[in-house]
Amino acid sequence: MVSVSGDTPFPHRPRNLTIRELGIDDLAPVFHLGEELFTSDRYPSLYRIWDEWEVTRLFNTEPEYCLVAENEGVLAGFVLGTVIVKASWTYGYITWLGVNPQFQRQGIADMLVDRLIERTIAEGARMILVDTDPTNTPAINFFKRKGFGNERKHVFLSLNLTKHDYYSKLIAYERDRSDRRP
Ligand SMILES: CC(C)(COP(=O)(O)OP(=O)(O)OC[C@H]1O[C@@H](n2cnc3c(N)ncnc32)[C@H](O)[C@@H]1OP(=O)(O)O)[C@@H](O)C(=O)NCCC(=O)NCCS
Repeated sequence: MVSVSGDTPFPHRPRNLTIRELGIDDLAPVFHLGEELFTSDRYPSLYRIWDEWEVTRLFNTEPEYCLVAENEGVLAGFVLGTVIVKASWTYGYITWLGVNPQFQRQGIADMLVDRLIERTIAEGARMILVDTDPTNTPAINFFKRKGFGNERKHVFLSLNLTKHDYYSKLIAYERDRSDRRP
């Protein structure tokens, strides 16, 4: 557990802030804070939809990269990350980062990301990745301020299968088949 002292570029950072690993009792508060923050206007792509499995999956598989910030018993923020090992390079990945609106712009995300990066470096990471919606100005400003760059645009496309000539027939066929099952 890391305790925060006064020498910080964020003078309003809460004095009693602690950063620690996510515990079992944090699962519901983290999930609910995420529900408040990760709304569909910020994350329109379906595969990035926040749900309770995101929290429990990362807690089960990579608890060392699941950190929370707490101030006097109140959840101030969280970061959930991972490490990706490729043949030539190891990457840290910031999967989810969220700060309670009451605590924003006080340097809490800054601390959470620092602690996560330290942990990924200990596992061999030499590059840290993150992605977000291009309209998410607070997050983009935050990451740029932290030194992230080499920004690339990523395009999501979708196809409504129910309106497609062939796939709509396949959907009807499958529905029919399951209706006929005893
Ligand atoms: C992005 C987010 C995590 C930043 O958390 P934070 O604790 O407020 O950030 P910090 O206090 O450590 O850093 C503050 C810096 O971030 C940027 N920033 C934060 N909020 C901002 C806002 N509303 N508008 C513009 N820039 C903002 C600025 O660069 C700011 O520095 P400044 O205050 O000197 O201008 C927070 O706004 C949040 O939880 N957003 C919703 C969830 C989200 O988008 N997560 C990121 C993708 S997973």
